[in-house]
Amino acid sequence: MEQLLQPIRQFLRCETPHQWIDEAIKPENLHLLLIDHLVCELKAAQSAMLLIRRYAVDEASGDALLAWLKPYEDFTYRKEGDWRALADHARLTKAMLPKRDAPYSSELIDKMVLLIKEELHHFYQVLEIMHELDIPYDNISSSRYARGMLRHVRTHEPATLVDKLICGAYIEARSCERFAALAPYVDERLAKFYISLLRSEARHFEDYLTLAQQFGGAVNNSEINERVKFFGEVEAQLISSPDSEFRFHSGCPVRAVASES
Ligand SMILES: [Fe+2]
Ligand SMILES: [Fe+2]
Repeated sequence: MEQLLQPIRQFLRCETPHQWIDEAIKPENLHLLLIDHLVCELKAAQSAMLLIRRYAVDEASGDALLAWLKPYEDFTYRKEGDWRALADHARLTKAMLPKRDAPYSSELIDKMVLLIKEELHHFYQVLEIMHELDIPYDNISSSRYARGMLRHVRTHEPATLVDKLICGAYIEARSCERFAALAPYVDERLAKFYISLLRSEARHFEDYLTLAQQFGGAVNNSEINERVKFFGEVEAQLISSPDSEFRFHSGCPVRAVASES
């Protein structure tokens, strides 16, 4: 586990504050932690899907990707369908064909399709745990975290793609770091689950970072390093500054900040 975490800790510019862990392990926050985690898994799948639809695959492949995620979105946003039926939608049934003249490699498609499959599996696993713990699914607002990074994404190509990939790397790395930080404090079933997630989230982080370097490297290597540094600072700020809302990726709980000062 330490081996997996070492590159992640090196990449992130701050650790999860212990005040966040204290908040996360309160029994009254368990439903928020799990529901937000659930939605994060879907969002991870959606952003990977949007990337390959936008940059890499042809229209028919894009439609197949939309159809793949639709039952998960129906459940999450419209509370439609039985969660157990999602197990029948775990796989993508159509082969992905690249867009004509797409400058982006099949590596982007392969890595992102595998990532989507894994995130959807994690989504289902969170639902299983919620079912065991008798926690019903309900809509909750999303945290400021991803939004707070994505608003700095540049609006011209290939900078947009590079920035989105770097944000993806930070979100995956932080998730991984938080699962590891929570594992010692939660019950055995949840701890086992969090540790089982570390391996794939660590790989997702590396995949995003490699892709960013690959696509951006053609432009300018030092510019990529600059952007990694920039988003690292934005990310650390979102994690360590006071946040009034508790979520999986929220900042330092306001109550804790207030009581310490
Ligand atoms: Fe995941
Ligand atoms: Fe992931």
